[in-house]
Amino acid sequence: MKLKSQDNLVLFAVAACAAALEALIVSLWAAGGPGGAFLLGMDRFLILSHAYLFAACAAIYLMGRRIIRPIDAILEGITLYGQGRLTHRIPHSKIQELDELARNLNRMAARLGEVDAMKNDLVANVSHELRSPLSAMESYVKLLLEEEGFSKRARENLRRVDGNLVRLRLMVEELLDAAQIESKTLKLETHTLDLCRLLRDVVSLYEPLAAEHGLRFELLPCEKGLTLFADPAKVRQVLGNLLDNAVKYNRPGGSIAISAKPEGSAMSISVRDSGGGIPAHLLDSIFERFRRLPPTPGTAKVRGAGLGLAISRGLAHAMGGTVRVRSEEGVGSTFELILPAGGEP
Ligand SMILES: Nc1ncnc2c1ncn2[C@@H]1O[C@H](COP(=O)(O)OP(=O)(O)OP(=O)(O)O)[C@@H](O)[C@H]1O
Ligand SMILES: [Mg+2]
Repeated sequence: MKLKSQDNLVLFAVAACAAALEALIVSLWAAGGPGGAFLLGMDRFLILSHAYLFAACAAIYLMGRRIIRPIDAILEGITLYGQGRLTHRIPHSKIQELDELARNLNRMAARLGEVDAMKNDLVANVSHELRSPLSAMESYVKLLLEEEGFSKRARENLRRVDGNLVRLRLMVEELLDAAQIESKTLKLETHTLDLCRLLRDVVSLYEPLAAEHGLRFELLPCEKGLTLFADPAKVRQVLGNLLDNAVKYNRPGGSIAISAKPEGSAMSISVRDSGGGIPAHLLDSIFERFRRLPPTPGTAKVRGAGLGLAISRGLAHAMGGTVRVRSEEGVGSTFELILPAGGEP
């Protein structure tokens, strides 16, 4: 059985009190000889021993609490730092060594916070600077592809360059989003959106991709008048990530269904796939940055940076919602985007 420090403290106090009582009896016995209790008088002996026992218990308990409280605070601080909550500060202690330890841990967390902010700035600046030349290169390659006179082979190569430029630009944009979400500098343009229209747009964009992979893709009936209060570009981005995954991690001949329904004062948009599913113990970890599940025979060749879901959840949180998942191995997964409902369309 694992005991908490408070339980340990009580046990410690009880054990120490028993030892103190024994010491008292022995010392009285030693002072007065074998009949010490009788020499003092039985009533005085009992009063004295009880008072001594009570004082010893109280002193031991208070001393123990003084030591254990700051240790608990330090343990809590270390746990929070491990979870990335680097703005937490461990309270000072009256015990010099523990106070020194708390101060050093606080200094370490502050320094880690600075390094983290520097890393975010670097990623944000580099990806921001890379975006413009990449977009320009993409446009030039697209212009070249519109021209006549290229051999079939040259055209094929240009298409490959175009495809890779698009991938690179999307990756750079994802990195920029991730840095902005983390540094809380993401700018949103939120307003009321017609949910069914938005879903129809997204579906028409992803239908060709699903068809290319031989997947059935359906938009379940959408109740008219449903609205969202969100940034349309960011909602498309999140749904794009979820649909991209539903295509990538599906099985041959599988299906994807997208649907929407009200959920209290929010809206829930579900993307259900018939892929291999995700083991229950890994469901939380897929939202961590750069986290990809161990490849299975069906997913070994699937490419990805492991950023899509982390960014999607970050964007949903920034808009006052979240992304959650249910999954059954061998049956498929359902990702749900929850966002605040809007007013009248
Ligand atoms: N629908 C799904 N079915 C099964 N596994 C999934 C599904 N969606 C995500 N995963 C697992 O979660 C991991 C993280 O997904 P995420 O979208 O963050 O990254 P990615 O798809 O690998 O890369 P990218 O940054 O290009 O999106 C994936 O690598 C995959 O292992
Ligand atoms: Mg993905």
